[in-house]
Amino acid sequence: MMIYAHRGARGYTPENTMAAFQKALELKVDGIELDVQMTKDGELVICHDHTIDRTSNGSGWIRDFTLQELQQFDFGSWYGESFVGIKIATFIEFFTWYVKTPLYLNIEIKNGPVIYEGIEEKLVHIMKTIAPKDFDLYGRLNISSFYHPSLCKIKELDNHFKTGVLFSCYPVDVLSFIKQTNADYLHSHWYYLDAKWIKIAHDAGIGVNSYTVNTLEEFNFVKKLNIQGIFSDYPDCWLKR
Ligand code: G3P
Ligand code: CA
Repeated sequence: MMIYAHRGARGYTPENTMAAFQKALELKVDGIELDVQMTKDGELVICHDHTIDRTSNGSGWIRDFTLQELQQFDFGSWYGESFVGIKIATFIEFFTWYVKTPLYLNIEIKNGPVIYEGIEEKLVHIMKTIAPKDFDLYGRLNISSFYHPSLCKIKELDNHFKTGVLFSCYPVDVLSFIKQTNADYLHSHWYYLDAKWIKIAHDAGIGVNSYTVNTLEEFNFVKKLNIQGIFSDYPDCWLKR
């Protein structure tokens, strides 16, 4: 089972920053999970919330700031004194660093309820421009979203990219998400996992990943289900189990 550092190693560092991604690399996780959004001037940045209020010293919606304006804010001090001065990470900055690591990657497109028109094209363009020729873009990364039209768009742009359908409900008709999106993975909250629907997915050749697994009880529960990966704020806790 693959262990992904959720929003970087957010249990130890300010989430979705380069410090968090560096920490994940140091912890020798299998992969990194992060969230991508778009600024007013069309730049891709890494942030979970649609506003910067919780994770910076500023206030307001990401879509209302230019990148230069966003870069004036401190995205580290809310977490602790040793992180003062950390800037928002751009996806270009992250991906330039990432392709030199051995890690797997899950990119979550945070589209909806704020709609970022054209975010999928920009994401694919950046990855294809930055990735070295011998980098396995299709094998090393997965693109997920709760906003399923974004996953259809990714497949339209390049059918070779792996995608994952995020959902937060019990999947009554498991394969309906797959029929609608042509995705490769189902990404379920651990609470909605059960052996019955996981078997249906596996029999159809669909992988299952789960978020956000943070306690030993949660980990022991998902481990028995033989799924492909988990996202955790404390990924190092599960690496040797
Ligand atoms: O991608 C899994 C997980 O990150 C989804 O939830 O809210 O942490 O982005 P959230
Ligand atoms: Ca996420």
